[in-house]
Amino acid sequence: MTNNTKAYAATSPDSGLAPFSFDRRALRPDDVAIEIDYCGVCHTDIHFVQNDWGMTQYPVVPGHEIIGRVTAVGPEVSGFQVGDVVGVGCMVDSCRSCAACEAGLEQYCLEGSTLTYNGEDRHDQSITYCGYSSRVVVSDRFVVNVPDKLDPSAAAPLLCAGITTYSPLRHYGVSKGHKVGVVGMGGLGHMGVKFARALGAEVTLFTRSEAKVREARKQGADHVVVSTDESQMEAAAESLDFILDTVPVQHDLNPYLNCLKYDGTHIIVGLLDPIEPPVEAGALVFKRRVLAGSLIGGMPET
Ligand SMILES: NC(=O)c1ccc[n+]([C@@H]2O[C@H](COP(=O)([O-])OP(=O)(O)OC[C@H]3O[C@@H](n4cnc5c(N)ncnc54)[C@H](OP(=O)(O)O)[C@@H]3O)[C@@H](O)[C@H]2O)c1
Ligand SMILES: [Zn+2]
Ligand SMILES: [Zn+2]
Repeated sequence: MTNNTKAYAATSPDSGLAPFSFDRRALRPDDVAIEIDYCGVCHTDIHFVQNDWGMTQYPVVPGHEIIGRVTAVGPEVSGFQVGDVVGVGCMVDSCRSCAACEAGLEQYCLEGSTLTYNGEDRHDQSITYCGYSSRVVVSDRFVVNVPDKLDPSAAAPLLCAGITTYSPLRHYGVSKGHKVGVVGMGGLGHMGVKFARALGAEVTLFTRSEAKVREARKQGADHVVVSTDESQMEAAAESLDFILDTVPVQHDLNPYLNCLKYDGTHIIVGLLDPIEPPVEAGALVFKRRVLAGSLIGGMPET
């Protein structure tokens, strides 16, 4: 078989995406073959297309919020059948035997997990291509069943934006009585608002854009703070237990730290670059505040 998969790929930081075709591998014993119906667009896809993090291997076929139907399974697969609606998220493999993998936290695999795209396949060392394509072949451990009651066309963002916001909210035990801030009303942000609300918290959404206030409330935010308005930021001072920060670029964390109560935790999920401008250590020390980060979520949690 040649070029059995149609896709969109970027070939350089400024190429944008263009049609591309390539061969998906033949099934290994634990593989699931999936015809892709839907794929979300995550800001990480944009970072990789533009090589923002200096690690893109071109051509890159992005997409890690994948929903599709099973078309074939390898002989060792027992959890999936042809016709099942399934999802694939940000990882397609890991070492499977380190402490993190055994704990179901494959995203923190001590050997590094294999990313769904721009990762290196652990068997044949090829570079992984993913969801902006017509089909994909993935080891069963990294495939999830999509419940019937979920609309498959709306479920895709759960596989990255969803699990990335759900996982830290659960890890830090967010529940009724907590006040949670979510910074940025984008893909991750709108999921963060929905999950924090569903977990029982009172939710404040921070946005730079007055135009997003109505939508934020529609998604479940109890309060909306326009972050460019200093008086609104001051009014939110020392009011929150947790902040989930989804902003994809360098930004001043200090005004947000100021919005945490003592013992409050600021969780970064959007930024990978150095923090700039610097964080005032005093804002942490004097209030025993915590600055934390979190990466997607493991397969059991997903
Ligand atoms: N940690 C992880 O595991 C993980 C997983 C997935 C994605 N990510 C990363 O999370 C980030 C967000 O992804 P996404 O898909 O949610 O992106 P997105 O849809 O572009 O949303 C990001 C939001 O951040 C706000 N924002 C953008 N530029 C800003 C700036 N200069 N200053 C302040 N706020 C700004 C905007 O909200 P307002 O307009 O409301 O201000 C924007 O809607 C990306 O960097 C992505 O790579 C991390
Ligand atoms: Zn993503
Ligand atoms: Zn591992």
